[in-house]
Amino acid sequence: MNFHILSLFPEMVLQGLSTSITGRAAKQGKIHIDAVNIRDFSEDKHRRVDDYPYGGGAGMLMQAQPVYDAWQQVTKPLFSQEKRKVRTIYVTPQGEPFTQKKAEEFAAADDLVILCGHYEGIDERVLEEVVTDYVSIGDYVLTGGELAAMVIVDAVARLVPGVLHNDASAETESFHGNLLEHPQYSRPEVWHEKRVPEVLLSGNQKEVDKWRLEQSVLRTKERRPDLYESYRQMQECKELLMTQKLLHIDMIEAINRGAAQLVYRKGKEILLYHTQAGIFYHTDPEEKEEPYLYEWGEGLCERELSGANTLAQGALPSGAMVSEAMPDCLVLHQERYIAKAEQLFSLKHTMTCSHAVYTKKEKAPVSGLYRPDGKPMGNGLTIQPLHAEHADFVKENYRKMSPEYLAGRIEKGAMFGAFLGEQLAGFAGIHDDGGIGMLFVHPQYRRQKIAQALETYLVNLLLERGMTPYGQIETDNDASLQLQEKLGLYVAKSPVFWLEK
Ligand code: ADE
Repeated sequence: MNFHILSLFPEMVLQGLSTSITGRAAKQGKIHIDAVNIRDFSEDKHRRVDDYPYGGGAGMLMQAQPVYDAWQQVTKPLFSQEKRKVRTIYVTPQGEPFTQKKAEEFAAADDLVILCGHYEGIDERVLEEVVTDYVSIGDYVLTGGELAAMVIVDAVARLVPGVLHNDASAETESFHGNLLEHPQYSRPEVWHEKRVPEVLLSGNQKEVDKWRLEQSVLRTKERRPDLYESYRQMQECKELLMTQKLLHIDMIEAINRGAAQLVYRKGKEILLYHTQAGIFYHTDPEEKEEPYLYEWGEGLCERELSGANTLAQGALPSGAMVSEAMPDCLVLHQERYIAKAEQLFSLKHTMTCSHAVYTKKEKAPVSGLYRPDGKPMGNGLTIQPLHAEHADFVKENYRKMSPEYLAGRIEKGAMFGAFLGEQLAGFAGIHDDGGIGMLFVHPQYRRQKIAQALETYLVNLLLERGMTPYGQIETDNDASLQLQEKLGLYVAKSPVFWLEK
C-alpha cells in the first residue's frame, strides 16, 4: 500500500508518521509513504502558490496549476500501470465523515494520494479534475489538511496485512460490531486500593468473554447511545433469524462478526449488508400474499433513477445505517423472491446453495487428519497458511473465483494449504463473507483424507475465534454434501439463492 501526500508542509507529515507503528511498517516495506511539496511546482519567481479569490472575500486560495502539476507528477507513473487502484483524497471539513468503514474501503486501494489544502482552500477547477473522495476527519476546522492526512494514513495503514503484529488476521478476529471496547487491566492486581475484577483472574475464558461482552454493552449504552441503538436493533434481528438457524447462518454470522449493517426491516422481513463482502442478504420467513421487496427495493430504484444512489436516512428505522447503492450481489433465503429481485435489480439467479453448519461448541476430532501442534503427520502432512508464492497454484486450480479475489484471500491470511513435505497438495480458505470454502485437493493426492483435514482445520480455527463454522455447498454437489455430514456439520433443509450481476 502506497501513500502519496501532496502538501505545502511535507516534512510535517513525514515526521509525524516516521515513528511508532507507521514508521516501523514503512521501514519493513509493508507500507510506503512519500510526500511532495506543492510549492516545488510553482511557476512564480517568488515560489508563490496562492492568490486572491475572484469575487472577493477573506483570505487566499491555493492556485490550480501547482496543485495539478504536483498531482500529475505523482500519479502519471501509477496510471500507466494497468488495473492499479488509485484514489485521490482531498481532506476538507466539507468532505464525507471519515469512519472505520471508509478506512476499510481505502485499504483496498493500491495507492492513496492525499491532497492537503491551506489558506482558504483550493481552486475548484483542479479539485474537479483530480479528486475522487472528499473526506473530513470531524466537524471542526484545522489550519491545514496535514493532520487529517496523518489520521487517514494511520487508520488505513493498520488495516494493511502485517502492519499490526497480530496472530489473528483482521478477518478471523472475533469482534462485536457497534460496541465499544470493554475496560482492560494490567499488573499490579491492586492499585490505589482498586482490585482487578475477580473474573479476569479466574482463568475461565468463557466467563471472561461473557463479562467483557456485558461490559461492552453497558459502556456503549452509557457513552454512545446511538451505537447502542444499532446494536439493540441488530440483536432483535438476530433473535428472529435464530428461529431458523441453519437457513440464516450467513446472516447470523455476519452480525456476530460485526460485519452486518441493517438496511431494512419490516416485521420479519430483514435486509442486511455485509460490509466486508459487499453482499446483501434478504429474508422474509413469513408467507405473504405477494413477495414485496418494494419498500426497500422499489424505493431504492426510484432514488437510483432520480440520481441519489444511497438510501435516505429518513427512510430507515431509526438507528439503522445507510446502505450502499444498488446491489451487485444479493442472497435470498426464500425462492418466491427470485423473480421479483431479478427484475428490480437486473440480477441473475446464479447459484443455489445449502448451508452446512458446525453447531457443536467442542472442536472436531483431528486424530488421523493433522497434528494440531503443527508438526508433520506420519505421511508428512502439515497445514499452514498460504503466502503470495502459492497464489499461482491456487489460481490455476480454483477457477470458480477470480484470480484477484483468490490473491486477496491469500494476502488476508485466509487461505490454508495442506503440504506433504514441501509439496502443496491442496488448499481451503475462508471467504470474505466468513464461510468456509475454496476447497481443492490435487487429483494425485485424493483419497488420503486431505479434504477432511483441511476442513476440520478451518472448523477448529473458527471455533477458537468464537465463531460458528459454516460453508455454502451447491445443492447438486453430492460429494461435498456427503463430506460435510461426515465431518459432523448439519446441512440446512432449505437452500439459499445467489443473485448476481
Ligand atoms: N482541513 C481542515 N479541517 C479539516 C477537517 N476537519 N477534516 C479534514 N481536513 C481538514
